[in-house]
Amino acid sequence: MATQVFHTGAMGGVPNPLFEQSSLKLRVKELEEQHLAFRNSLICGFNQLLDLKDISTGVHSTRLAEWAIRVARKLNIAEGDLYQVEVAALLHDVGKIGVPDAILKKQGPLTAEERALINRHPEYSWSILRLFPGLEQASLYALHHHENLDGTGYPAGLKGYDIPLVSRIVSVIDAYDAMVSNRCYRKGLDHAEAIRRLLESSDSQFDRAVVETFLPIAEQEAADVFAAAGTSAAAAL
Ligand SMILES: [Fe+2]
Repeated sequence: MATQVFHTGAMGGVPNPLFEQSSLKLRVKELEEQHLAFRNSLICGFNQLLDLKDISTGVHSTRLAEWAIRVARKLNIAEGDLYQVEVAALLHDVGKIGVPDAILKKQGPLTAEERALINRHPEYSWSILRLFPGLEQASLYALHHHENLDGTGYPAGLKGYDIPLVSRIVSVIDAYDAMVSNRCYRKGLDHAEAIRRLLESSDSQFDRAVVETFLPIAEQEAADVFAAAGTSAAAAL
């Protein structure tokens, strides 16, 4: 049975309700901080799992998380919601853990069956993230990160503004990063060509407002970020 501590504060043996209240508040704050630290550790752990599965996917996701926050701020997403944005961008591909390496890292063209299996990864991401208390929103953002504006994406074929804004953000920055990153079988596209393709597919695949918001960020970041090593084919799937 739990031991009940009876605080008397500065009033000797007489209970002090004010002291008890502030002590309780401190304890609640302490527990909330512990809970958040534990959740953050789990999130970092999952990102490391992605690194172990395919190092480029983990690195790619960390880069995306930084960009997603910057785009979200420019699109006036509330500061209080940025945590969900960051987690969604960081772990949107965590479901790739459920895709066999032989398919995920295959260098040749994929069969229809293999493609179908890879296309399950947003659902796998959702099924993992929804288990975290407080990450229900992030799990939905991850679920829809491969939807297209014209309804041709997956898994739900959502259209336009039915696709959550954060998913539309992840979709744009994910595509850009995949295009400019080096693959095992080809060199990444240059920044200008990647931007041209993003604009070309705006209104069909991508949200034009998100693309235009991301452009100056991409311009600013391109030189620094892509001086580092590129990523593998799997990062773009
Ligand atoms: Fe993905």
